[in-house]
Amino acid sequence: MTDLRIPKWSPKLSVGNAKLDEQHITLLQLGRRLLSLVETAPYPKDQVRVALLDMVDLSCKHDALEEQILEDNACPTLSEHKLEHKAYRDALTGFLSGASHNILDATVLVRVITEWMSHHISENDLPVREYLKMRPKAKAGR
Ligand SMILES: [Fe+2]
Ligand SMILES: [Fe+2]
Repeated sequence: MTDLRIPKWSPKLSVGNAKLDEQHITLLQLGRRLLSLVETAPYPKDQVRVALLDMVDLSCKHDALEEQILEDNACPTLSEHKLEHKAYRDALTGFLSGASHNILDATVLVRVITEWMSHHISENDLPVREYLKMRPKAKAGR
């Protein structure tokens, strides 16, 4: 069943960059998976840890790529965007450490993941769409 708390990706969420769109789609899928795992009682700790690791891993790659493109395109709100990314990555690594020590607060995790997933694309990324959709030609080969 579709989890309505996590937005379903649709072309209206496209930031005009195929790689970033693909990462957003995967992040939303990972978010849905994580919610369904932590809401299983008792939740499967190892699977939750692996799902969190996948989420941390992709979030790091995604944030780095977005930030690089925003920087290449001289986005004026780059530093705020970086702070938003970092706050979420810090929360994820906190959950990962909680999961590793069996002190994961599933309620907080669900709240943070749901909030981030429903805001990240529409409120953080879409407003800077113009700076995400293309890379300067001189650096396009990277
Ligand atoms: Fe993003
Ligand atoms: Fe972003």
